[in-house]
Amino acid sequence: MDDVTPIVAAPLDGWEGRSPDATLRAVIERGGVVTCPSLAFALSDDEHALFDASLADDRRKSIYVRPGRAGISGTTATGARRDTVAAVIDRYARSAHALIDGLFPAYDAPAHATGTSFRPRAIGDVSSGRALSWRKDDTRLHIDAFPSNPTHGERILRVFTNVHPTTMPRSWRVGEPFAAMAARFLPRTRALPPGGAWLMHRLNITKRPRSAYDHLMLQLHDLAKGDPDYQRTCPQREVDFLPGTTWICFSDQVMHAAMSGQFLFEQTYRLPLARIADVDASPLRTLERLTGRVLA
Ligand SMILES: [Fe+2]
Repeated sequence: MDDVTPIVAAPLDGWEGRSPDATLRAVIERGGVVTCPSLAFALSDDEHALFDASLADDRRKSIYVRPGRAGISGTTATGARRDTVAAVIDRYARSAHALIDGLFPAYDAPAHATGTSFRPRAIGDVSSGRALSWRKDDTRLHIDAFPSNPTHGERILRVFTNVHPTTMPRSWRVGEPFAAMAARFLPRTRALPPGGAWLMHRLNITKRPRSAYDHLMLQLHDLAKGDPDYQRTCPQREVDFLPGTTWICFSDQVMHAAMSGQFLFEQTYRLPLARIADVDASPLRTLERLTGRVLA
């Protein structure tokens, strides 16, 4: 089924000591998902106390660590419990770095890590009492593009592990290939107004000026999420990642929706395009081909 994102299983059962794998690299760089059903992230008995949704701050879906910034954010935990959360998130980051560095050494991923998170809440948990806006609703198919954080074409690589203590899968939908989605929605996008990128940067809305690429990616994110017919009828498939499964993809390229699940670890990297082997398949080059313009 070429019209839906491929899911390719890899029989990896350890985080350390992997060999470079050009086949798996081609899978993710061309918009597929690599899933490792036997690659669990083991938690100790002490760490089982972390299976508690109330660990997450009411306003956040994740407890997270950013490289270069002290401490953890997004949690209600204090004292020794907070230390335990911080230590396990750090251990997950090191495991993910070992895995990606082994499989794809050219990425130099550890140097490009941008954050590690633990998500103790169930998807759809609205205990915070706030209705989620459609734009933030990740049960709708989307590519990742962040309003405040322009990438200028750098890639968003993510590693996820379902650590649910019983049998609950992390259930995703994946959609059509990036180029098909982009071709469908590009006619409905608009150019950035003159001076708009500069102004948003000056007002600290963005961390650096938004490029034409970022402006298009955000619109593709919003147009897809905001189109109920597309969400229902576009080419898609459901995939259940069972507890003990780790999966890897470029989330700026894979149309994905997280439908249900609880207790997830996640590691994000932002890779310069120069680190990518198949640059032609990247969202930046795809959009440049489709629009006939230089975008970043
Ligand atoms: Fe996402």
